[in-house]
Amino acid sequence: MGKHRQARRTEPESPLAVRRLLALYQKQLDRQQARIAVLENELKTQDLRIKLLRAIRRASTNTLRPESLFHLLLKIIIETLEADYGILLQIDPDKQTVLFGLQRGTDGSTVSLESVSLKRGYRRGLFTGDETVLLRTVGARPHGWVIPRYRGGRASLLVLPLRVSGRIVGVLELLRFPPSPAFDPRDTEMATTMGHQLGMTMENARLYSEAAKRVVQSSTLMELSAILNSTLQISEVLRLAVEAATRLMECEVGSLLLLNEECDELVFEVALGERGREVKEVRLKVGEGIAGWVAKTGKPTVVSDVRRDPRFSRRVDFRTHFITRNMICVPVKSRDRIIGVLQALNRRTDRPFDAEDQRLFESLSRQVGIAIENARLYEEVKETFLSTAATLAEAIEKRDPYTGGHVRRVVEICLTVGEELTLNSEETETLHLAAILHDVGKIGIRDVVLQKDGPLTPDELAHIREHPELGAEILAPIKQLDAVIPAVRHHQERCDGQGYPDGLKGEEIPMASRIIAVADTFDAMTTDRPYRPRISDEAAVREIQRCAGSQFDPKVVEAFIRAYRAGRIRSEALQAMDKGLGEGNEIVVGTSKSGGAS
Ligand SMILES: [Fe+2]
Repeated sequence: MGKHRQARRTEPESPLAVRRLLALYQKQLDRQQARIAVLENELKTQDLRIKLLRAIRRASTNTLRPESLFHLLLKIIIETLEADYGILLQIDPDKQTVLFGLQRGTDGSTVSLESVSLKRGYRRGLFTGDETVLLRTVGARPHGWVIPRYRGGRASLLVLPLRVSGRIVGVLELLRFPPSPAFDPRDTEMATTMGHQLGMTMENARLYSEAAKRVVQSSTLMELSAILNSTLQISEVLRLAVEAATRLMECEVGSLLLLNEECDELVFEVALGERGREVKEVRLKVGEGIAGWVAKTGKPTVVSDVRRDPRFSRRVDFRTHFITRNMICVPVKSRDRIIGVLQALNRRTDRPFDAEDQRLFESLSRQVGIAIENARLYEEVKETFLSTAATLAEAIEKRDPYTGGHVRRVVEICLTVGEELTLNSEETETLHLAAILHDVGKIGIRDVVLQKDGPLTPDELAHIREHPELGAEILAPIKQLDAVIPAVRHHQERCDGQGYPDGLKGEEIPMASRIIAVADTFDAMTTDRPYRPRISDEAAVREIQRCAGSQFDPKVVEAFIRAYRAGRIRSEALQAMDKGLGEGNEIVVGTSKSGGAS
């Protein structure tokens, strides 16, 4: 049976039957080949999709900085989808505005597109419709594209809104020009496939850059707070506060207004910028202008366009010729009480003030409030300390009936000379205290010696010369006087090393001591003492000048004489004469009983 079937099969067919059979085979073959081609195409598309997705993932893990990420993404997408140009827009999903935009061409050219409008042209429909992809044939240069070398013909445009959790976070747009074929459904399918991944990548980049910005702002705030707390001098605190406000808010100018509760006015304490001086002359009533509103309500405010804000007062701008465009203004509080207003004006960047800026500015304002309170408390404590020290010095002075008012006058002269020598605030503070306390050691000198009318015996002189050391010993337990104590100990030293107690020379002697030496001598020479009458101011100045380089520091003498010539130093007698009490006798030089200055 098998043999028979085989024989029939090998039987020759008629030529017609053979041709039919061949045609049938051919058809089947064609169908097979067509299916293979489709499969190959699908495989190729799948392969492209996978490559694209992989590339996007790689790009997003490599960089999250929007600019470099967008460059990379556009390059991959344009190459894969064979477009001539591409645009990637990063969108703020809440405000539906463009945060960042980039256009790239196959030639590698790029254009930044921040100002693209989403309200014009084909982009208008993006937020209203729910289409996944828009396919359009458009004119030579669709709205918002920058294509300088385009030579005519209509373009094929593919627009893909990138959605994450239903919100549009970005837009991908691709353009093909003839001779490139128009985009077809296969392209849109491929674009849609990667849309979600692309959207996620862009949203991550946005969140990352926002977080990075906040980190920078927060660290700036921390740095500024540390600077603010680095000083206890009130004027310095106020200046630093305004500098910090301007820097933190990236603004052109800043100002700090303090509340004067007595007259219910805001006074510009510090205003930085070109018009700072003019601003300081302006006062605002509480309730007047935006700062006045903040002081009255205690609420912070952000004004993105002052022209549209009825609270804005033009008085300050009018006075200073400054044009305020936008501002952020917050109250400054101390223990829940409003003490002023901190403001920053005219943002340097296009980015408007937002809620986060306000939060940050309020944090700074809290720090400013604390710093002002600390500085004010410190000033109070310092004042109390200075007046206590002055009272103590005066009490000691009272034991010597002939030296009344000496300490007060020495302090005045010292501070004038210190100013002439441009001492800094710390040096001035040391000088002030040292001048008050320089003779505190006289508390340990016996009355008979201190109050003796006639010349002193060598023993008595040696005893009275113990007063600088005694002074230093008395003050030693007070830690806050660390810098003052050496100035007290050495106020009887001489530049040539012939002074006491340690025979220090020149710059070995603390600056405050060198100033006290001159001031002390001038006042001693120009006031009457039981053992010698006073001499005139001019004679005393001549004597001091004569002793420059031996007894006194020449630089200090120079500064002293400059201040004297400017009429800023006057003896007790001349001051009394100014008041119509003095006689102004001219009397020859004498020496005080403590061997030079008292
Ligand atoms: Fe003295």
